[in-house]
Amino acid sequence: MFTLIDLFGPGIFMKEKNKNKLRSADWFSPVDPKSAFIHRSWLRNQGYPDDYFRSRPVIGICNTWSDLTPCNGHLREFAEFVKRGVLEAGGVPFEFPVTSLGEILMRPTAMLFRNLAAMDTEETIRANPLDGVVLLTGCDKTTPSTVMGACSVDLPTIVVPGGPMLNGKYKGERIGSGTFVWQLKDKIKNEGFTPEDQIEAEICSARSSGHCMTMGTASTMACMVESLGLTLPGAAAIPAVDSRKKVLAQLSGRRIVEMVREDLKLSKILTREAFENAIKINAAVGGSTNFIIHLTAIAGRIGVKLDLKDFDDLGSKIPLLVNLMPSGKFLMEDFFDAGGLPVVINEMKTHLHNDALTVNGKSIGENNKNAECYNQDVIFPIDKPLIAEAGIAVLYGNLCENGAVIKPSAATPKLMSHRGKAVVFETIEEFLGTVDDPNLDIDENSVMVLKGVGPVGYPGMPEVGNMELPEKLLKKGIKDMVRISDGRMSGTAFGTVVLHVSPESSIGGVLGLVKSGDYIVLDVPNRKLHLEVDDTELEKRKSEWVAPKPVLERGYVNLYTSTVQQSHLGADLDFLVGKSGAEVTRDAH
Ligand code: FES
Repeated sequence: MFTLIDLFGPGIFMKEKNKNKLRSADWFSPVDPKSAFIHRSWLRNQGYPDDYFRSRPVIGICNTWSDLTPCNGHLREFAEFVKRGVLEAGGVPFEFPVTSLGEILMRPTAMLFRNLAAMDTEETIRANPLDGVVLLTGCDKTTPSTVMGACSVDLPTIVVPGGPMLNGKYKGERIGSGTFVWQLKDKIKNEGFTPEDQIEAEICSARSSGHCMTMGTASTMACMVESLGLTLPGAAAIPAVDSRKKVLAQLSGRRIVEMVREDLKLSKILTREAFENAIKINAAVGGSTNFIIHLTAIAGRIGVKLDLKDFDDLGSKIPLLVNLMPSGKFLMEDFFDAGGLPVVINEMKTHLHNDALTVNGKSIGENNKNAECYNQDVIFPIDKPLIAEAGIAVLYGNLCENGAVIKPSAATPKLMSHRGKAVVFETIEEFLGTVDDPNLDIDENSVMVLKGVGPVGYPGMPEVGNMELPEKLLKKGIKDMVRISDGRMSGTAFGTVVLHVSPESSIGGVLGLVKSGDYIVLDVPNRKLHLEVDDTELEKRKSEWVAPKPVLERGYVNLYTSTVQQSHLGADLDFLVGKSGAEVTRDAH
């Protein structure tokens, strides 16, 4: 008589012929028949044939798709291409959702939830019968959060970056997502920009699926994972809607199955050398300052020691090669057409650890050695760079004992050494309410200081450090001023902006003691940030200082503010640093 066993497989009661060492075998081929029944039977309701549970690598496709994260809106389609690849290579794909962080809509800031999303990713991977993972990412925080989570489990993992939007084009000119927003106030005030112009510009700057197409944080993160060796070569710059991105997804699906068979875990790729490469390549592409916080947090998860000073020591002498907004004038589609990140990596070969391993099993040097540049206006050769020294400068001084950062390539050269009178805004609300007051005592030589926007204070360290200039100064044609805060800045923004001041003002850092009228010295060539107030006066102010009240005393926000580390350590939650590995010995049944 014909039975279901004849139809659906080699026989669930048959003894396993090949005892495999896959992690998933603990779920699907356990010695206890009851457990085997439970783990397999319910999954069968999705129509999986029996061989899905027999010695085939099980691949989790971690998807950050969400309608609320438009930059990742195309990732469900990509998951299908990854699945194809996994199946072709003999693996079994299971797609799963994790918390998706949409930079644009989330309040008070998506950064508040990066560590929550990382925790979700980590625990979902560990708790399930997965042998390897593909991370589908895009918008700013979706890349670092998923990589952080995956690091704490340390399975074979490959990243598929979702890709940038096509170039924005407005009235024949390139219009960069994000970067244009920071110019908007000036355009409205000084260039007669109408509400109709604004709507037209909105439409023109988001004309396809994908993430911001400037060298903002999302593009920086895509370049970061490629530089670290976590993607197939050339992945970062392929536009989201280019058919080659789907091919990349499919090939990544094939490759992750091989990685499982090779036991090529994240920790074998994410070595100190890989992090050093990423810092140098980030300098060469003019990447976002957010790179520092995210890379530091990833290093903390995988167990590689990385200090804030490393970013300056390794990156600040690196030339800027990539002419992309906000530091330059082109966009990611141009970068891809010019040859993309492989060209930069090849140009940078004398600076890099070329033997650093990548997910395809080859070294980064080997992968990119034949890359050719097709447009030297977009990617400059290393002997004729766009800027001789780019990277990120790390400042120290009495105003930032644990450091602060500035991106010189996005700053005004003559402001890099500057002494000015502080104009202090105690909160972001005070700034927004007073900055355009014609009576505000401020001029172009002033130093704008914003408090209360660090990890604890805001909470979540929002991207408000690039404070808009006062209207009365914009009208005078002033385009830049020195600005200092304990917050972050959008990767699409620009200006002489000192960020990530640590310790932050809300936990008693000296930034919290600054008063309007104090003089501040910014000396980027000598890496100094100094408040010209003597120690006795500072001690007096400290003794009078009152810590701000917590915004919320329950829920995740409470957990976050009571455990978040300062920005120079990566702003991870202290109890999430490091990894717990992939083993889970207890079962639910
Ligand atoms: Fe998502 Fe810029 S808002 S990448």
